[in-house]
Amino acid sequence: MIRIAIDGPGGAGKSSVAKAVSKALGIIYVDTGALYRNIGLYMLDSGIDPKNREAVIPALSDIKIEMSFRDGRQVILLNGRDRGDEIRTPEASMAASSVSAIPEVRDFLLDLQRSTAKKNSVVMDGRDIGTVILPDAEVKIFLTASSKARAERRFKELRAKGSNVTFEQVYSEMVERDKNDSTRAVAPCVKAKDATLVDNSKLTEAETVQKILKIVKKKTKDTTHLYQVLKVIVGPIYRLLFNVRVKGKENIPREGGVLLCPNHLAAVDVITVGVASPRQITCIAKKELFSIPLLGGMIKALGAVKIDRGGADVGAIKAAVSAIENGRTVVIFPQGHRCPGVNLESTEIRHGAGFISYHAKCDVIPVCINVKKGKYGIFRKTEIIFGAPIRYSSLGFNRGGRDEYAAATKKVFDEIITLGTEFRSLPDYDPSKDRIKNKKRKR
Ligand code: DC
Repeated sequence: MIRIAIDGPGGAGKSSVAKAVSKALGIIYVDTGALYRNIGLYMLDSGIDPKNREAVIPALSDIKIEMSFRDGRQVILLNGRDRGDEIRTPEASMAASSVSAIPEVRDFLLDLQRSTAKKNSVVMDGRDIGTVILPDAEVKIFLTASSKARAERRFKELRAKGSNVTFEQVYSEMVERDKNDSTRAVAPCVKAKDATLVDNSKLTEAETVQKILKIVKKKTKDTTHLYQVLKVIVGPIYRLLFNVRVKGKENIPREGGVLLCPNHLAAVDVITVGVASPRQITCIAKKELFSIPLLGGMIKALGAVKIDRGGADVGAIKAAVSAIENGRTVVIFPQGHRCPGVNLESTEIRHGAGFISYHAKCDVIPVCINVKKGKYGIFRKTEIIFGAPIRYSSLGFNRGGRDEYAAATKKVFDEIITLGTEFRSLPDYDPSKDRIKNKKRKR
């Protein structure tokens, strides 16, 4: 899951650049300016002065804005109608700038923008994406150019569309709009502290796109770098401390998206899988785990996707699907909750694994983890087995749906149970015999 925020003033070429970047990365492009333009257009249609806050605010309740993506192209319906290029006229531009300075209008469009980025990997352009809408975006760019260069581009664009505006008109409107957008009290168009500034006054569109793609690559590579450092430094210590023994590594394909499904014994299971897996993993972890010192930082570095405890976080599940589609190795625990011991038959399982596999059309690898506590509680023996991949075609999917997801997850879990039988020869961890714990309890 990647969210790329591209902010900057009008005419900096944000939309064409953002579109090209999204195409290169195979993710959707969200033009948030088009949302404000639709609101501005509605006010013009209704004879409402877009600057008149008292008139604009009540009119919002008569507006329904819907945004969808057809073949990757953004479609906005204003009260059921796609207004096409009507939103691109100079009048609509000014109206958009005026309504966008009204906090209630910004609030009105907030959820739509955030929920789109929660469900999809996006390149989103606008004025406040990196500062307000997606402050956690993985990549933030502030794209700008001199006002003259920007006015020239907009002028050429409008002329190509048959408009007979003059350069002076475009330039003075651009300066006025810049002033409006950057000095307004709410969400002004300013660079986020952690955004990378790209001035493209002297760059072609293709050069700007290349520059941004390089930044994206570098930013996303940082995570991989951190992962590698963790693996090289923390990995051997963890292996030693927890006595990790790994079997079936060869069952993990060298490339291509795949889903790993381990049983869940302890919070550190994600680290066990990360340390044992020959490929970088992306895990889906409970929100709460992210705030645990050290562990939180580590699972973040391991590329984790946050999920709400209930397990019904559609956004996170969809993020997992898109990560697999992008060729990553995703980990999900079918049990949802930790369940110590290897008595797997009686544990409750969820159906997220089936859902992900169905939507990502991927194979699933059952993984069995067993932990045997040592004499002193901490020096335990951890064993992890990666089972043979269960092919997508053998997971019994037909048309999808809850029952099919549950049945597929059950099939995967049965395989985990089978792998677990290898551990049966080992005595299970028995809490009543844990001397250290019992001593503490007595105290
Ligand atoms: O990017 P654009 O020119 O299509 O945007 C039209 C207007 O909408 C612009 O004047 C500023 C406003 N806008 C905004 O305030 N916040 C956004 N995220 C996007 C656009």
